[in-house]
Amino acid sequence: MAKYNDLDPKKWKEYSDINTDSLWLIEKRDNSGAHSGDYHGNFVPQIPHQLFTRYTKKGDWILDPFMGSGTSLIEAQRLGRNSIGIDLQPDVVQEAEERIRTEQRKNCIVRTVTGDSRTVNIEEVMSSVGIDKLQFVMMHPPYWDIIKFSDNEKDLSNTSTLDEFLESFGQVIDNSTKYLEKNRYCACVIGDKYANSQVIPLGFYCMNQFMERGFLLKAILVKNFGETKGKANQQGIWRYRAITNDFYIFKHEYIFVFKKVK
Ligand SMILES: C[S@@+](CC[C@H](N)C(=O)[O-])C[C@H]1O[C@@H](n2cnc3c(N)ncnc32)[C@H](O)[C@@H]1O
Repeated sequence: MAKYNDLDPKKWKEYSDINTDSLWLIEKRDNSGAHSGDYHGNFVPQIPHQLFTRYTKKGDWILDPFMGSGTSLIEAQRLGRNSIGIDLQPDVVQEAEERIRTEQRKNCIVRTVTGDSRTVNIEEVMSSVGIDKLQFVMMHPPYWDIIKFSDNEKDLSNTSTLDEFLESFGQVIDNSTKYLEKNRYCACVIGDKYANSQVIPLGFYCMNQFMERGFLLKAILVKNFGETKGKANQQGIWRYRAITNDFYIFKHEYIFVFKKVK
């Protein structure tokens, strides 16, 4: 059995719900239980569900330094994993915490923290729950400034240049993967941006931040997305714009999976 998950190789035929291909077409968001689709900029629970099943074991500790509505933490506890979630916005953290608690599982610890993930003392948070290592880090940063999450100047969505965004993102990688166990995994979910008549490949720039730090790139997964809240009920106008111009409408985002080997 792999050391980093609970899957039984003998039962491989039974795992038909586990994705093994690089194209992830997810029809519908799982809105069950504590999951709320209301947080603008959230990801579908199926993403952390798939990743935690493949790359973690029961009892492992998962960190999400861009917790938002707590999607990762809800999935972690459903799968019997412990988790720590950090977000800059106190009201967002409080709301997530309340929803997570509505389906709290026995023997699962969930710790939420309000703070700046570039600098927050993660070692202190870990020692408050009696651990000194993490087994997975799940990252879903702002897609630079596409959605403004707050007015806080520490918010990555308020960085004024691409370089500043990438530098801040790099600081979150350093701060949060420092405690990731060697030979374990982290993942980053991110999409691209279109500005000044060209694609800004944010996904690949963020991927490079991990590779420059010596992480092994294990997967580039492409996931579809349906109608976003920002473009709700505007399919016609966007199709008209695309046909009468030279661009394509984004319908995908990336999930990068990395292994820490150093
Ligand atoms: C794309 S959202 C994550 C959504 C989350 N995956 C979910 O399903 O709800 C990014 C989050 O990063 C937070 N954020 C931005 N800058 C941050 C920082 N410096 N430290 C911690 N959180 C930050 C924002 O408040 C926002 O909630």
